[in-house]
Amino acid sequence: MIRVCPQTRLLVLTGAGISAESNLKTFRDSGGLWENQRVEDVATPQAFESDPELVWRFYKDRWLQAQAASPNPGHLALAKLEDWLGNNFSLITQNVDGLHSAAGNTRVIEMHGALRTCLCTRCETRFYLEEVDLDPALPRCPKCQGELRPDIVWFGELPYRMQEIDDLLQNCDVFLVVGTSGVVYPAAGFVMTARYLGAKTIAVNLQPTKGPSFFDEFHQGRAGEILPRLVDSWMAG
Ligand code: OAD
Repeated sequence: MIRVCPQTRLLVLTGAGISAESNLKTFRDSGGLWENQRVEDVATPQAFESDPELVWRFYKDRWLQAQAASPNPGHLALAKLEDWLGNNFSLITQNVDGLHSAAGNTRVIEMHGALRTCLCTRCETRFYLEEVDLDPALPRCPKCQGELRPDIVWFGELPYRMQEIDDLLQNCDVFLVVGTSGVVYPAAGFVMTARYLGAKTIAVNLQPTKGPSFFDEFHQGRAGEILPRLVDSWMAG
């Protein structure tokens, strides 16, 4: 078993699976978010151009669901890990629900954006959703009246903080991947980079990976059950 000690530089990548036990839908499991919604209708810049009201309805709804959700034992285990490892810990998430911060993690990179914020398409100011009037079907910027857009990285857009992510991938000893199907790039390629550069790689997922695996260690099951056990075993030395 791969060991983690206080000197280990640990990098974590999470996906929708870690929030499944907080009752938030994943994207590609049955009953998932994309099942009753075409990705192209809600998660591309073109969709926002052609029907911004539909896109806003989708993300307002997801924001309400995220606000009603609480971190589960999987999130809490990662917060405990950050307390233990300090600056040697970093977390990249593809999730936009804010549950890692709610659990207490501070060293978090939200590479696909966040539901709690939005962005003016004209003056580019970022606002918390609480700061804007969400009643209109198409919310407007409180500063310049430009159209606001959800602060979400859509298909065809560049994920946030890629330079920092690249540095972290180059400088980690262990790369832990939790609850992601590994089909959306660039995140899907991080494990190959980390492994190629010498990191040990671990995956936690409900399902085994399809195709060739780049993981040295695989734990099959629910993140909320596996992560607390894994973290406790590392901390016990
Ligand atoms: P997916 O829905 O593609 O994958 C969820 C993964 O979590 C699957 O591999 C499941 O087997 C696993 N899973 C489900 N429940 C779990 C549990 N309780 N414990 C552990 N694993 C579990 O979600 P992502 O991989 O996050 O991007 O999707 C990646 C990106 O695709 C998202 O960030 C989103 C979407 O398009 C954008 O919106 C930009």
